[in-house]
Amino acid sequence: MVEISTSLLGVKKDNIIKTIYNLETAKTDYFHIDVMDGVFVKDNTVERMVEYCDYLNNITNIPLDVHLMVSDVRKYIDLFLPYNPNIITIHYEAFKDKNKLLDTLDYIKLNNCKVGISIKPNTDISEILDILEIVHIVLVMTVEPGKGGQKLINTTLNKIKQLSKYVKEKNLDILIEADGGINIDNVNDVKESGAEIIVSGTGIISSENYDEIIKKMKE
Ligand code: DX5
Ligand code: ZN
Repeated sequence: MVEISTSLLGVKKDNIIKTIYNLETAKTDYFHIDVMDGVFVKDNTVERMVEYCDYLNNITNIPLDVHLMVSDVRKYIDLFLPYNPNIITIHYEAFKDKNKLLDTLDYIKLNNCKVGISIKPNTDISEILDILEIVHIVLVMTVEPGKGGQKLINTTLNKIKQLSKYVKEKNLDILIEADGGINIDNVNDVKESGAEIIVSGTGIISSENYDEIIKKMKE
């Protein structure tokens, strides 16, 4: 059974409270918080995602899965730590220096938070094999980060398959999370590739019945 992390990126401010309640009732396993700084990716969602985390902290205990698409990683870790995220995921491509990446991964763990590393579609898994021992989650982007509502890039499923095979062979204690363009029509392909946490935004938020769609995606 996979877990579902529903992205709130596409939820408008005037619908957010109602949507949080409905997604909580529909038993989403996580709320996926897409933080974009306008530098690492074009759009800037920081202020809105901070506001949504504030609501979430007051409304629900469902864990927060924070996805930092930012260049100044440490700054945004510190901005979101007060909202007690369960997971903070940072991008491999945001670091030029491997040691700085390792220190930042440690910093997240020292703050009692699970740590994820995310790779863009064009980043090969070979770049991160040496850090798999020290992360909890690998977030494989199945779209180019920066926007919701994009089409899943099919070649990224091979990366998930490759990574899943490696993790099983090495008996690593890691969860593979897939993010971007995932909906009821392609979720089985993503699951069969080996993803254990599925991020979906448009695929869930645009549906009439959150309970039904989340239940179907989990099956
Ligand atoms: C894209 C984000 C994804 C995206 C998911 O940069 O990281 O989480 O918002 O939304 P959909 O499911 O609409 O692609
Ligand atoms: Zn995301």
